[in-house]
Amino acid sequence: MEERVAIILAAGAGKRMKSDRPKVLHSICGLPMVKHVANAVSSVCAKKIVVIGYHGEQVKAALGDTVQYAEQMHQLGTGHAVMQAVPLLPEKGLVVIVCGDTPLLEAATIEKLLADFQQSQAAATILTANVPDPFGYGRIVRDERGQVCKIVEEKDAADKERLIQEINTGTYIFDINALRESLANLDNKNAQGEYYLTDCIAYLIAQKQLVTTSILADYRLAMGVNDRRQLAEAQALMQNRINNKLMANGVTLVDPQTTYVDVNVVVGRDTVIMPNTMLRGTTIIGEGCEIGPNTELTDCQVGNEVSIRHSVATGSILEDGVTVGPFAHLRPETVLHRGAKIGDFVEIKKSQIGENSKVAHLTYIGDAQIGSGVNMGGGIIVVNYDGRKKHQTIIKDGAFVGCNSNLVAPVTIGEGAFVAAGSTITKDVPAGSLSLARALQVNKEGLAKRYLAQKEEE
Ligand code: UD1
Ligand code: CA
Repeated sequence: MEERVAIILAAGAGKRMKSDRPKVLHSICGLPMVKHVANAVSSVCAKKIVVIGYHGEQVKAALGDTVQYAEQMHQLGTGHAVMQAVPLLPEKGLVVIVCGDTPLLEAATIEKLLADFQQSQAAATILTANVPDPFGYGRIVRDERGQVCKIVEEKDAADKERLIQEINTGTYIFDINALRESLANLDNKNAQGEYYLTDCIAYLIAQKQLVTTSILADYRLAMGVNDRRQLAEAQALMQNRINNKLMANGVTLVDPQTTYVDVNVVVGRDTVIMPNTMLRGTTIIGEGCEIGPNTELTDCQVGNEVSIRHSVATGSILEDGVTVGPFAHLRPETVLHRGAKIGDFVEIKKSQIGENSKVAHLTYIGDAQIGSGVNMGGGIIVVNYDGRKKHQTIIKDGAFVGCNSNLVAPVTIGEGAFVAAGSTITKDVPAGSLSLARALQVNKEGLAKRYLAQKEEE
């Protein structure tokens, strides 16, 4: 089979973003734009070359060794960027060229472009689209027979050309030899003084080589992101796409407009997502859950039939039948085993809560291993930090910890033990014992009246 390689252009600073970060690393729906693009071309090209420049090390860190890199030291234009990748291209075959700032491109679009390129046997095929507002894009100039003549950039276009609504999406397939030859003949005599990749098209046509187009029916899929407004627009479009997919797979979104789900999130059927909910990163949610309203889950694994209301969780595992919230905060490495109940104003960090255990109100738990069937009363603080080090707390199965207790770690509460309310526990509590670690109460009979009378005299 003919060799296929993709070149992804990602060296530009993206001046219009007014950012210290390279444009292609700005995220939409949880992934940097360039990663969306790399994913879209993956179905057609296993081999990908990313042209890096402005803060190239950051782009490398984001994409890792899934791709090869070519460095463009100075950003002298898209044609110049492609020239830097040429030494890495095979002798012959085809090359898909995409911009790192068109994150909405889909694999199906690239596949269709490939089919059109192969069918037409062209030297190059341009992915074009008809857009209502072509401002800023290169325009596709055609002759009276409808054949492509050239692409003209906004800044170089004559008034008449600016009226053209068919634009260059910045995605193309070139025969590798045709690309090499046309790049060798590029110049930078244009309004921006850049080597435009788009000028390769006019060159090939002048050489009597065939250039065809593949027209994208939904122009929004090829939208380029040059500024923050377009970033928000692309985010909204992709969010809409993700939400529609979720609903098609049997997930209820009570208010899709306020449901924000990252591209790699998985949600099981019959789960209901309530308004104002963000599901981020690598979060996976099972079936029949109720998530939200006002909930943010990042990199969490959630089982089936779980309820999470008005809460924030990061890097946590919630097994089947768990309920959380309202107003709970689960920090990384929290594991809630089957049927655990976490109530309001509870914060948990790096801790295990065993099956059917309850942490119902106003409690902090950090660095603790809590067994099954444990009842934690209200207002308990696990004192895990002594100002220098973190220490472990272990609470065994069936223990009961009364309200407003402090458990000063390291400490172990034995199986079935009972800690009286208001205790400050500094030593281990053996299994089955009742522990009382507070000042005992003194009652002075009849003294209340005298005390009050005294007060009045003062
Ligand atoms: C480009 C096209 C335009 C098309 C539009 C589609 C050219 C000359 N113009 O314009 O016809 O309609 O995309 O979105 O190709 N880049 C580099 N090195 C450079 C310059 C750019 O790697 O020296 C990269 C950028 O990081 C970016 C991509 O190329 O990912 C496109 O560059 P950008 O400056 O956004 O081009 P547009 O003006 O949008
Ligand atoms: Ca662009």
